[in-house]
Amino acid sequence: MIYSQVLSQTNFVNEDELMYPFQERGLQFGDGIYEVIRVYQGKYYLMNEHVDRLFRSAEAVKLTLPFTKEKLFQLLDNLLKVNQVKGDAKVYLQATRGSALRDHVFPDVEANFYAYVQELPRPIEKLTNGVAAITQPDVRWQNCYIKSLNLLPNVLAKQEAKERGAFEAILHRDETVTECSSSNVYIVKDGKIHTHPETNNILHGCVRSRVKVLARQLDISIIEKAFSIDDLQQADEVFLSSSTAEVMPIVEINGNKVHSGEPGPVTKKLQKAYEEDAGLTTSIFAQVR
Ligand code: PDD
Repeated sequence: MIYSQVLSQTNFVNEDELMYPFQERGLQFGDGIYEVIRVYQGKYYLMNEHVDRLFRSAEAVKLTLPFTKEKLFQLLDNLLKVNQVKGDAKVYLQATRGSALRDHVFPDVEANFYAYVQELPRPIEKLTNGVAAITQPDVRWQNCYIKSLNLLPNVLAKQEAKERGAFEAILHRDETVTECSSSNVYIVKDGKIHTHPETNNILHGCVRSRVKVLARQLDISIIEKAFSIDDLQQADEVFLSSSTAEVMPIVEINGNKVHSGEPGPVTKKLQKAYEEDAGLTTSIFAQVR
């Protein structure tokens, strides 16, 4: 039993008047998982990959999702239909272990799940000109392949980037570069792409797996081997990838230009291939002319 009068800010209110569900394991423990799926012109991009990863994350944290993969595909399709989504957007979906009185041990309740769709234009200016990044120690746990709600280290790193006038924080464990606060990271050296291997220390990005396919189609070598902060600083090109940022050039790190300080040729080839792969009707290259 818990007593119904609870504190909301500095007032006592009845439990049912609270604006947010306080007995929710996502809020109390970060006990949940999520996905962000890109939508272009009203259609999902890399949907199978995201749904597969959601189920992999669920299995890793022993969370029973309240639907099968087939049912989720249907639900997500309907989400776009009922909202009559025709343009570029993102779908955020989240599952937590449910609502129950706080106890570390799993409660015997159903998972909570929601998904919403939000308009999201392509970040054309950033894709065209590139962005600045900073480096930050990677202080996250050892299971970063799980897309879990525990994002405080990522949030703090991203905020630090923002406060220093940058778009992203490139994370490193000791000398090894892992990924960014909300994206994967790559360097190009002598025409070859290098990126951290798919270990537990990075999120296995859906765009990352697509970048591998696109690079191979373009005959560009992609080496999945850890690289160092030093390699990052000596790189010919640096770029990041994610469902919201696509393939985005990084042209400045800690206030120093990456090479010439302009997006490089390998990054641009991948950006073009990405646009084709996603069937985009808008192009960053049209804007450049
Ligand atoms: N972030 N690494 C981290 C830590 C991420 O949070 C993300 C995605 C990625 C790229 O994954 P994908 O290519 O599947 O989007 C890598 C999403 C966009 C977010 O948290 O908003």
